[in-house]
This record gives sequence, structure tokens and C-alpha cells, in this order.
Amino acid sequence: MSTAQSLLQWVGAALLCVAVIVVVRTATFPSYQTRPPPCNATDQDFIPATRARLDRLSQAVTFRTVSYEPGRGTPEELRKFLAFLRASFPALHASPLVTREVVGNFSLLYRVQGSDRSLKPALLAAHLDVVPVTEEPGWEAEPFSGQQKDGFVYGRGTIDCKHNVLGQLEALEFHLNRGHRPRRALYLAYGHDEEVSGHYGARKIGELLEERGVKPEFILDEGLTVTKGVVPGVGKKVAMVAITEKGYVTVKLSVRVKGGHGSMPEKESAIGILSQAVTNLERNLQPNLWGSGPERDFAEHLATEMSLLPRLLTANLWLFTPVVRWVLAQKPSTNALCRTTTAVTRFNAGIKDNVIAPEAVAIVNHRVHPKQTIQEVLEHNLKVIDDPRVKMEVVESLVPAPVSPSGPESAAYMAIQESIQQIYPDSLVAPSVLMGNTDTRHYWNLTSAIYRFSPNVMTPEDLTRFHGVNERISVQDYERVMNFYFHLMRNVDKPLVVRRHEHDGDL
Ligand SMILES: *[C@@H]1O[C@H](CO)[C@@H](O)[C@H](O)[C@H]1NC(C)=O
Ligand SMILES: *[C@@H]1O[C@H](CO)[C@@H](O)[C@H](O)[C@H]1NC(C)=O
Ligand SMILES: *[C@@H]1O[C@H](CO)[C@@H](O)[C@H](O)[C@H]1NC(C)=O
Ligand SMILES: [Zn+2]
Repeated sequence: MSTAQSLLQWVGAALLCVAVIVVVRTATFPSYQTRPPPCNATDQDFIPATRARLDRLSQAVTFRTVSYEPGRGTPEELRKFLAFLRASFPALHASPLVTREVVGNFSLLYRVQGSDRSLKPALLAAHLDVVPVTEEPGWEAEPFSGQQKDGFVYGRGTIDCKHNVLGQLEALEFHLNRGHRPRRALYLAYGHDEEVSGHYGARKIGELLEERGVKPEFILDEGLTVTKGVVPGVGKKVAMVAITEKGYVTVKLSVRVKGGHGSMPEKESAIGILSQAVTNLERNLQPNLWGSGPERDFAEHLATEMSLLPRLLTANLWLFTPVVRWVLAQKPSTNALCRTTTAVTRFNAGIKDNVIAPEAVAIVNHRVHPKQTIQEVLEHNLKVIDDPRVKMEVVESLVPAPVSPSGPESAAYMAIQESIQQIYPDSLVAPSVLMGNTDTRHYWNLTSAIYRFSPNVMTPEDLTRFHGVNERISVQDYERVMNFYFHLMRNVDKPLVVRRHEHDGDL
């Protein structure tokens, strides 16, 4: 036998070996999904979306609690909204177990006393403010009317996120009215300026809780939702629980040259030099890090529910990570999961048609992948721009949020997952990355278990309603929101213990 033949045999045997591993792993990959007893409308403790409950949500929408910029909101509307909440939930506000504090003039902090001091408190968060309504036409109901129409409640705040505020308060009111005495203390924290970074609301709440030494078992704030038709290769609904948030860094690039008359230009202009820098940034993207962060957990939590090809790839990321990276980088929506994104948002230069521009300025907005530091992003920029004439300054930045524990290793995550699957028995749950930011940025020091999830359904079409025209929630979804928080309050009202699962087939 020639050496060539023998080599071929070796290569063949190695390939066969790899193929066997791939097939075995695909067939035996563990499922992360659970099947808790579903919530049923016939249950004694089901919270129906009665007229009174729907009207309370509608009325909440009528308060125009708009945030315009940090420190510039709508104090009168917030005051009225706070009074409305106080009047709308009499059992909660009269209960000797509940204390209510106004923080930073308009934010709310409730504490429900627990009987068991060995249990760390739970903290549910949301916010009272909303984004402005632009002049865009097309609203099918007045944006601050709270109108109920065709099985929906319309208006600003119905999915961001007065539904969460009202849903949590309805659940607690219902719970207390049934004579519930919690074992675990519960905090409800509602900032009043989340839409403009929460500097006067959630930040104050965070500082206050830190000062008092409050260490929650976990925090659940608004965030990603139950999605339909969003994850390729997965037919079922997917509930995305964000375990981190991308960071951001906005940089200003500038070039200064000697100005002068347009009749005798130098070889290169400020505009030309800056254009080259911007082109270099867009041609040499920040590194593709898919698979090194929580996106990997997201895929693996859904692997067993995927169609064959994506399942095979996901069950074998030890081999196929480069393939998945390449595929996901092709579309802007999935590319954003792979890396720190680079968006050139402004480009200004020039003063007159016949004068050489003395300065050119560009603004670049990066959303930072959880496995990258701001420093690394800036170093990459300097390297690819590779021109000392281009000055770079940081305008504003926020590091990516610490990654919270997820999966069977985290009892709090599993309590959230099971509460979701009680309300949405046909839905899968997976840990995810939030592209935007929430009030939880002010709560990092309180606990490492921070989750961001809103218990309503969003289709790709609904995404345009978020901060957009025709924001609305279906009556059915709002009913689910109330019952989700109720089940969660019940599920966490006991010691949370890790139930380890066997992971077969780990390499
Ligand atoms: C709800 O409970 C009723 C009776 O208890 C049962 O007939 C029905 O199938 C249940 N529905 C679901 C969705 O489990
Ligand atoms: C609260 O209101 C008072 C006056 O009503 C004002 O002086 C103070 O700056 C406000 N504080 C915050 C945090 O908005
Ligand atoms: C968290 O604690 C650190 C160190 O004490 C402090 O510098 C930081 O401002 C705190 N962060 C928040 C969001 O309160
Ligand atoms: Zn929000």
C-alpha cells in the first residue's frame, strides 16, 4: 500500500470519527425546556381581564408622563399618575405589610414585608414614563386615549411599559385580597425617567437600596418579550429573557487642516481624510465574537427545538462556530448579535462652496458586545483608521452589563422560566442579550442576578409599535401579563434551590 493510500485512509477515518461525534451530539443534546403545570382560566386563582382591570390600564395611558431629556419631564402628569395608582389599588395601599415611598420626587418604591428573614427579597421593576408621540400620522386611536378597540388597548405605554406597572400592581392587589402573607419580601421599583437614562429616578432608588444594604435574590425589569417568527429554524414562540445588555460608546472623529481658498487646494482635504477614516471603519468591522458570550447559551437552549440543520450546527458549536458566525453576520439584525456594531450617525464639514473646510467631524455610535471592553473597541478603531491626523474623543459610554446566571445553574432564572411556561405553555425560553438599556444599569451593585423580560408577545410587525405608531397590547396579552406576575410572586415565595440537570453527551 502506498503512503498516499494510507494517508487517505487516515483522513477518511478521521472524517468518519468527526461525523459520528456530530451525529451523536445532535441526537443526544440536552433540552433546557421545562413543562410546569399550565395556568388555566378555570383556576381558582386566575386573574381575569375584567372591565375594571382593563379600564385601569386604559386610564393609566391617559396620563402623559412623557420624558423629553434628562431632568426635563412632565412633573404634573407624574404627580397625577402617582395619585391615580394610589387610588386604584386600595388593598395594597391599606395593607400593613406594604410600605410606599416616593423617591426622587416622582419614582415609586414599594416594599411588601416577608415573614421569613432568611429569604432575600425579590425586586420587580418597571417605569412610569413614556417616550413622546411624534407627529407621525397613522394612529388608529388617539395615542393618550387608552382606547379599547377590536380586542386591544391602544396608546403610549401599553407595551413600554405601563402594562408591567399595572400588571404587577394588579397581581399584588389580587394576592393580598386573597389573604396572602408573603414569606419572601418583595420590592416594586418604578423609575420616572427611564426613557432618558434614569438619572433622577432609578439611580436614586439604586443608591437608596444600596445604602440600606438591600441585596435582592434577583431583579426582573422590562426587557425582551415572547417572540413569534423571529428565531430562524424555530417554529414555536420563544420567550427571550435578557441576561445582559450591550454597552455603548459614542466617539467623535475630527480632522483639522489649514483652510484656504478653493482655488489652490492641498493634496488632501479634511473631508477626504475623514472620509477615508470612516470608510476604514466600515470596511474593517469590530471582531465577530458570536459564540463567546450569551448568544451561545441562547442557541443551545433552543437546539433541541430547531429544524435539523440549525440543530446539527448548534449541537456542535465546538466544530461549527465559524460557520454560524459567517451566516449570522450576513443580516444586520443578526450581525448585531455577533459583534460591537459601528454606525456612522453624523458627518459635518464645510462652510461655503468655494472655501476649503478647515474641519470635518463625524460621530460614530458603537453598541458594545458583552465580551468586549470599551478600550478594545477604541483600540480597534485607532488601528484601522491608522492616521494620526484623525482625532478621536469619547463623547459618552456605558460598559456592557455584567452577565447574569442562567439555565439550570440559576434557581432564580429557572423560576422566571417556569413562570413564563405556566402562562405560555407553547413557548420556549432562552437567555438573550438586550440591544438597548434599561433602568437596571443603576442596580448592578445590588445583585448579580438581573433579568429583563416583559411578559407580552411581539411579532416582527409589532416591533415597529415599540416607541412608534399604534403602540397597543391585546386584551389576552394583558391578562397574561397580570397572571405571569402573579405566578412569579407565588413561585419565588419559597427558598429557591438549584436543581441540577444531567448533561449527557458533553464532550
Ligand atoms: C383547563 O381546565 C379545564 C378543567 O379543569 C380543562 O378541561 C381544560 O382542558 C384545561 N385547559 C388547559 C389549556 O389546560
Ligand atoms: C424635587 O422637587 C424640588 C422642588 O419641588 C426640587 O427642588 C428638587 O430639585 C427636586 N428633586 C429632584 C430629584 O427632582
Ligand atoms: C457601585 O459601586 C461602585 C463602588 O462602590 C461605585 O463606584 C458605583 O458608582 C456604584 N454603581 C452604581 C450604579 O451605583
Ligand atoms: Zn421601557
